[in-house]
Amino acid sequence: MRILGIETSCDDTGVALFDAQLGLLAHATYSQTTTHAPYGGVVPELASRDHTHKLLAVINTVIQEAEIAPRTIDGIAYTAGPGLNGALLVGAAFAKALGYAWNIPTIGIHHMEGHLLAAMLEEPAPTFPFISLLVSGGHTLLVEVFTIGKYKILGESLDDAAGEAFDKIGKLLGLPYPGGPALAKLAEEGDPKRFHFPRPLTNRAGLDFSFSGLKTFALNTFQGTNQSEQDKADIAYAFQEAVVDTLFIKCKRAIKATGLNRLVIAGGVGANQRLRSKLTELTTSAGTVIYYPRLEFCTDNGAMIAYAGYQRLKLGSDPTLEIHVHPRWPMDTLKK
Ligand code: KG4
Ligand code: ZN
Repeated sequence: MRILGIETSCDDTGVALFDAQLGLLAHATYSQTTTHAPYGGVVPELASRDHTHKLLAVINTVIQEAEIAPRTIDGIAYTAGPGLNGALLVGAAFAKALGYAWNIPTIGIHHMEGHLLAAMLEEPAPTFPFISLLVSGGHTLLVEVFTIGKYKILGESLDDAAGEAFDKIGKLLGLPYPGGPALAKLAEEGDPKRFHFPRPLTNRAGLDFSFSGLKTFALNTFQGTNQSEQDKADIAYAFQEAVVDTLFIKCKRAIKATGLNRLVIAGGVGANQRLRSKLTELTTSAGTVIYYPRLEFCTDNGAMIAYAGYQRLKLGSDPTLEIHVHPRWPMDTLKK
């Protein structure tokens, strides 16, 4: 079975071809960062237009790189939600039209399920069951993954997602969008001893997260300084440490609570090097094995959608030509 995956939920046009026997054949992502950077965040209407302009070209690139004939493709998977309504509609409409033209099945995929399964594209792939820490611009989740489609949410953010908090503090410090990678870079110049930020919700039981208070703490601290370059770097350092440490503490707790020793990291914040080095402490203290998708599959990409599509299409497709997307789509409503 050979599946074309299409991801257009936010500001990346991602496409990939996954083959059940051969694995990933090709993948490409067109990032809209330069389109949105002047506005300091994603502008939904511009995102939809950019997907419309670029999607066909990215699909062509992937098919050419894979050196396959389009008629050998057996199905199309597209991100059906959650995400930006217009952006999702571009991918869904394109997938349905192509599926109709090529007379092959299509299936709508949950974006977070794609992120959850992304590490399964790597060698060695994690085996079920495992815990996944899903940290992206829109979500912060700790999930117990029993098998494809059987997920138990152990904890989630009550307010801002970890990536969103990185982006907002990045903006506060005058960094370009997206703030996460830029803030991580600035933190390298920070003085570790200057500020200590709180680790929210770690001094009480449970696995939920909250980052909005930490954001306010960073804002107040920033306003109490001269806002020099060094002040900014010191705040970036303290902020990153607080987020990373909070994620670390909750992962450690989730491992203890479930008794599982496989931890899979997913989502854009999973690209954060400080988080990765901190989590290695779990491998020595708790004997946990940690799995990461390669960096380009931490952030939004077509490969994770193609792979999730392969798993889901084995179970059945969506036979209708109606185009439905779900901008809000709680993960625990997914079926096995
Ligand atoms: O998974 P993703 O590509 O898109 C969503 O589905 O949201 O995640 C994007 C998020 C952004 O908030 C971005 O700032 C953050 O991931 N991010 C990072 C890093 N790279 C990306 N945050 C911290 N450190 C990084 N190195
Ligand atoms: Zn994502």
